[in-house]
Amino acid sequence: MGSLINKENDVKEPKDAILYINGVLKLLPNGLAHLTLLEYLRGLTGTKLGCGEGGCGACTVMVSYFDHNSKKCVHQAINACLAPLYSVEGMHVLTAEGLGNRKFGLHPVQESLASRHGSQCGFCTPGFVMSMYALLRSTKTPPTEEQIEESLAGNLCRCTGYRPILDAFRVFAKSNDLLYTNGSVPSQEPKDGEFICPSTGKPCSCGPTQETINQADGSCKGYKAVSYNEIDGSSYTNKEIIFPPQLILRKTSYLSLNGFGGIKWIRPLLLKHVLDLKSRYPDAKLVVGNTELGIETRLKKIHYPVFVAVTHVPELNILTVNDDGVEIGAGVRITELRKFLKKVIEERSVYETSACKAIIEQIKWFAGTQIRNVASVGGNICTASPISDLNPLWMASRAKFRIVDCKGNVRDTLAEKFFLGYRKVDLGSNEILLSVFVPWTRKFEFVKEFKQAHRRDDDIALVNAGMRVYLEKHKQKWIVSDACIVYGGVGPVSLLAVKTNGCLVGKEWNKELLQNSLETLQRDVLMSDDAPGGMVEFRKSLTLSFFFKFFLWVSHQMDLFNESVPVSHLSAIESFHRPSVMGSQDYDVPKQGTAVGSPEVHMSARLQVTGEAEYTDDTPMGPAGLHAALILSKKPHARLLSINDSGARSSPGFAGIFFAKDIPGYNSTGPVVEDEEVFASEIVTCVGQVIGVVVADTHENAKLAARKVNVEYEVLPAILSIEDAVKAKSFHPNSYRALSKGDVDLCFKSDKCHKIIEGEVHIGGQEHFYLEPQSTFVWTMDGGNEVHMISSTQAPQKHQKYVAQVLGLPMSKVVCKVKRLGGGFGGKETRSDFFAAVAAVPAYILNRPVKLVLDRDIDMMVSGQRHSFFGKYKVGFTNEGKVLALDLEIYNNGGNSLDLSLPILERALYHSDNVYEIPHVRVNGSVCFTNYPSNTAFRGFGVPQGMLVTENWIQRIAMEVKKSPEEIRELNFISEGSILRYGQRVEDCTLQRLWDQLKKSCNFLKVRSEVDKFNLCNRWKKRGIAMIPTKFGISFNRKFMNQAGALVQVYTDGTVLVTHGGVEMGQGLRTKVAQIAASEFEIPLSSVFISETSTDKVPNASPTAASASSDMYGAAVLDACKQLKARMEPIATLKKHTSFEKLVNACYLERVDLSAHGFYIVPDIGFNWTTGKGHPFRYFTYGAAFAEVEIDTLTGDFHTRAADVILDLGFSINPAIDVGQIEGAFVQGMGWVALEELKWGDDAHKWVPPGCLFTCGPGNYKIPSVNDVPFKFKVSLLKDAPNDKAVHSSKAVGEPPFFLASSVFFAIKDAIIAARVESGSHGWFPLDNPATPERIRMACADDFTAPFSKPDFRPKLSV
Ligand SMILES: Cc1cc2nc3c(=O)[nH]c(=O)nc-3n(C[C@H](O)[C@H](O)[C@H](O)COP(=O)(O)OP(=O)(O)OC[C@H]3O[C@@H](n4cnc5c(N)ncnc54)[C@H](O)[C@@H]3O)c2cc1C
Ligand code: FES
Ligand code: FES
Repeated sequence: MGSLINKENDVKEPKDAILYINGVLKLLPNGLAHLTLLEYLRGLTGTKLGCGEGGCGACTVMVSYFDHNSKKCVHQAINACLAPLYSVEGMHVLTAEGLGNRKFGLHPVQESLASRHGSQCGFCTPGFVMSMYALLRSTKTPPTEEQIEESLAGNLCRCTGYRPILDAFRVFAKSNDLLYTNGSVPSQEPKDGEFICPSTGKPCSCGPTQETINQADGSCKGYKAVSYNEIDGSSYTNKEIIFPPQLILRKTSYLSLNGFGGIKWIRPLLLKHVLDLKSRYPDAKLVVGNTELGIETRLKKIHYPVFVAVTHVPELNILTVNDDGVEIGAGVRITELRKFLKKVIEERSVYETSACKAIIEQIKWFAGTQIRNVASVGGNICTASPISDLNPLWMASRAKFRIVDCKGNVRDTLAEKFFLGYRKVDLGSNEILLSVFVPWTRKFEFVKEFKQAHRRDDDIALVNAGMRVYLEKHKQKWIVSDACIVYGGVGPVSLLAVKTNGCLVGKEWNKELLQNSLETLQRDVLMSDDAPGGMVEFRKSLTLSFFFKFFLWVSHQMDLFNESVPVSHLSAIESFHRPSVMGSQDYDVPKQGTAVGSPEVHMSARLQVTGEAEYTDDTPMGPAGLHAALILSKKPHARLLSINDSGARSSPGFAGIFFAKDIPGYNSTGPVVEDEEVFASEIVTCVGQVIGVVVADTHENAKLAARKVNVEYEVLPAILSIEDAVKAKSFHPNSYRALSKGDVDLCFKSDKCHKIIEGEVHIGGQEHFYLEPQSTFVWTMDGGNEVHMISSTQAPQKHQKYVAQVLGLPMSKVVCKVKRLGGGFGGKETRSDFFAAVAAVPAYILNRPVKLVLDRDIDMMVSGQRHSFFGKYKVGFTNEGKVLALDLEIYNNGGNSLDLSLPILERALYHSDNVYEIPHVRVNGSVCFTNYPSNTAFRGFGVPQGMLVTENWIQRIAMEVKKSPEEIRELNFISEGSILRYGQRVEDCTLQRLWDQLKKSCNFLKVRSEVDKFNLCNRWKKRGIAMIPTKFGISFNRKFMNQAGALVQVYTDGTVLVTHGGVEMGQGLRTKVAQIAASEFEIPLSSVFISETSTDKVPNASPTAASASSDMYGAAVLDACKQLKARMEPIATLKKHTSFEKLVNACYLERVDLSAHGFYIVPDIGFNWTTGKGHPFRYFTYGAAFAEVEIDTLTGDFHTRAADVILDLGFSINPAIDVGQIEGAFVQGMGWVALEELKWGDDAHKWVPPGCLFTCGPGNYKIPSVNDVPFKFKVSLLKDAPNDKAVHSSKAVGEPPFFLASSVFFAIKDAIIAARVESGSHGWFPLDNPATPERIRMACADDFTAPFSKPDFRPKLSV
């Protein structure tokens, strides 16, 4: 034990706290210690709140500071939502606005993203811009493509599918200036049709599209070279904001500041002072990155009164190389640690740095860049999370922790002794962690890291491990002289496998040791069946898989492979390597007029990349504005006994509280039946049901007051799964639906059916995860006589209707406007209306503006999701695989109100044949009433679920008749003239064309044989492929909804203002509609503007949904344009006008009405559920996709090697936007089939309170990230296939491609089949959706799963 206390200097007096934002100095007043940087910045629109927990990257900013030690500026991307405001004191914060704007010019990063279609809804966009910019500013040499992809791991996008973002940023990964400046000098010869990227010299998709190639000059218009010097960290363009020179001269000072609720924020500069503070405030929380504390304080609502920011304390930031190892200060950030260790590895002998390498490898999968830039080593250790990625490695590698107490006494402890229990460490309240010492590894000592998560990138581990073994040679045998095996994620604390360690030491390193260790491990890792986190069988099997991998890896290092281990086992230890994404897009451009058919950039893209685009929450409120928070039910089914709101009323900033009794009008809403109370009056039927609303001066105060409302419940029995609902016959009233054709029973009995199979399909739900949460802003006008609102909704008319209803006002006095949505995907079709109705109550009663913006966890918990489905099938077919009869029952989980569940079920029934001709069919279904929040529309609207059931039995037939599923699919295709089960005739069917083209394009047969070959040579990695077709019916289910209105106004300067009933949510509706108007008037697209959607301009609009908006609003706008042209015609025929502007002026002078209302109804549709026959769809959009995946059979990890998607979109109005829709839908669909799993408190998840959602944030609900994009991603549009049933011969695109992602699901299943064959399992097996690593791994049944489960084991799923 030593002492440090005398080495310290005295504390200096504090100076004024300052901060630069976009080059402008700001004084930071005292009293803001409770604020995050994001809250402080929210006056600017470029930094968005997407999740508030560091999981989405929407809030990314770049912070820069001058490092006095290295004498360099450090530039880093960080998450503003987790950064305490005072943590960036003395730094420069740059937001998207600071990079460039539309008035003074865009930065190349912004320009590239906009022009390469990298922004759809735009809510994630500024975050991506800032991550990329920070990477460029922080590297002196151009980043590699790999670095670019890695730097974006902490940024989520739900719209684009990432490919265009990567293409946009890849131009900055230039490696050779010559390639840039002197035209393309490719470093390798391009193959036919391949484009060589001037940035990398490699083939890529940033090249010209077919359309741009076809341009007369032959130059590549889509690609704009960017000189790296413009954004190099060492030099600036004259437009760029430089690092404020004042900050270089400024000395960092001691800070002591306060915040709301008595919070103290102290930033000492000396260790001595830290220790003094710790003795004065024993409960003080040391804070570095705040990535743990931020979650505790903001999400878990834990109050800590004193924060001691130790970021600037030199002793905590040391990184030293000693003779015996490395010493790492507890305050060192993960990014710095990685850089340091990389350097160490370069400088030391290879054998010494095995532990260092393992740490570096583990860090690769540790959070995203923004978190790693601020998160500290000590923060990770002292949190003692059982799933910490680094703690098992510290323990395994014999690391020692140095601890210092308030008196300066120092003690060392072994890492393996430091962790005492769940988040409990061997650290007194008078002690802090000073540093970590990692010894060099010895010759023949090996350390290895392991981690398996839901998603590879930026995800916390399900199970991880650190393993070390030290081998010594005795009598020609390699004997284990020392070993340490540690697991995370299998208990309350990182678990030392004591028995296994004991069993290893002294034994020879051979197969027998492996076998004994695997058996011993099962006694080391004990987990109860309902252990928190679930997935017990999977987690236990991972412990064995990891050890097996470790054994093979060490054997490989020792060159023992050929002796005792077959070469095919090498596949177990090949680490994942991701080549950069190669995308290609193939389409024709049959241009119609000035704009239709052209791949124009999204009209708002330039506003979005600069952060200037405004969303609902960006609307300023004025000083009278109030924030609303919801009072929510905590029980799934209960009677409300009493509500005590006295705590809320005395809460700071309180302005009002409202319950059912306060509603001025009608307390019920619902799009189909009005079965949902705005505020629960007597009974609650789900966790998260709204009981009331509180308004206060700030968002935080409103939430605080809402938390203080006490509700007493009498708990009633709850139905928490479809199965329970079916058993209890708990269905929504009148929700039974049936369709039939032929005679199913007779066919089953006949000898034509050679085989009959029966089975069940479980399909989990999916969260929309639009980046912009549900938000609405309501205010009154004219003394409360009118109510206006701006909302993030796909259905402004429904907002108007519900708000009018709940307030008892006529609809004519209520106006809803929508500028744009940060994503909707169906989740803002009906559920958003409900929140508008809630917010309208306090706004109207108090006569003050009210904003309601849901926190991500609340949004996910209460606003409904894609329906989970349960399907039961019986199918009869011939020995050849020809399907003859289908008997199908389908149930969807409607939740506690009907919402859109019935039309969603109906769509599932319509589409449950996918593209197959089935002579005898009986399908029926019901909507289950369960005690969950009402489920709702989501891209596909029940169609994907219906078709997934079908493809499950198709795949099963294939196994039964020993053919490929693709053969069975093709054998059963519908064709021109087929009569579908509901009586509609198939016309203009392009299915076979698409299928044949796809087969050729993906080279199916060749890939099949390559995959088979790969599978033969690799025991532990398997590849799989699948081709999936789709057919999607276009039209709203209800005939009356198939109508659209538009208002077109022509101004005397020749510009045109279009307003229509549809809303822009990223899908490019406005751009397409504007293109239609521009072409019709034969004017440039830039002359047409669409400002917003408003119920006072176009009344009674249907929601923007069902993929039909471009068809409908395009046609309505066309109608208005044609009316205007007809009015202008008499003057135009005089032919005196040299421009449109002049013509319009002449018309104006002749008093021609230059405003027209257009209207469109979809013709020839209708359906009668009593007869079960009709013509429900105007036409079908067809498509097909191929996918190739590779799985790690030992862990369930997977990646998509290739995806090839082709759609028939007629003559596309805007092929670039359509490609964006296809890629976005495909990647979103990949999330549904393979990544995203909702876990509810039900029988399957007893560790979650009943009816509660466990996966309610990006922390544990994983949507695809940039790392999940298929390596090769090809999208094609079918050529020469005009559709005479829609505007300009186009076809609808939004939803149809979503289901094609099931090709990934079936490719995974194909790979699993190959794995199971290795263990002797040849029969069919069920695989529920989503095929997460857990399901993949457990289905690859082998010796490591055998101790815990049978080969037909079905992991638990909330449905
Ligand atoms: C989005 C996201 C992703 C994440 N991903 C991962 C991941 O992949 N793997 C993983 O392991 N973790 C992950 N984490 C957890 C977290 O980022 C790490 O644990 C991080 O290292 C914590 O460091 P910090 O500096 O932010 O800690 P802080 O939040 O600042 O502090 C955490 C705790 O440590 C204490 N503390 C800090 N320093 C000392 C010291 N010197 N002495 C005593 N006590 C101290 C603090 O008082 C506090 O209680 C993630 C977190 C987020 C938000
Ligand atoms: S809002 Fe900060 S990461 Fe999501
Ligand atoms: S554009 Fe990325 S989330 Fe919408």
